[in-house]
Amino acid sequence: MADETPVIRFFRGSRPLGTARIVPDTPIVEIAELAGVEIPTNCTAGNCGTCLVRLVRGRVDLPEELPPGLDDDVVAEGGILTCCLYPTGSCDIDVIPPL
Ligand code: FES
Repeated sequence: MADETPVIRFFRGSRPLGTARIVPDTPIVEIAELAGVEIPTNCTAGNCGTCLVRLVRGRVDLPEELPPGLDDDVVAEGGILTCCLYPTGSCDIDVIPPL
């Protein structure tokens, strides 16, 4: 049975920081807060890249046109913006950004 509640586990490198359940229509940065993990933000609109982290496991839907704070190279390294992206299932996230 697939009744496991999807969660995001947050890490700094290999050190676990906290875990929180995914809340529908809630961006990753707010789920991080629920886990007691603070991810810095600035524009909260996908422009500045301040909230960049690295997706280690799982999937996050990217918009067809990448927000200005992301580019293909960063995405290839697992980079995701937590202020404006939403998880589609359980994920592991390293708060240390790629590159
Ligand atoms: S806070 Fe600026 S891109 Fe997320």
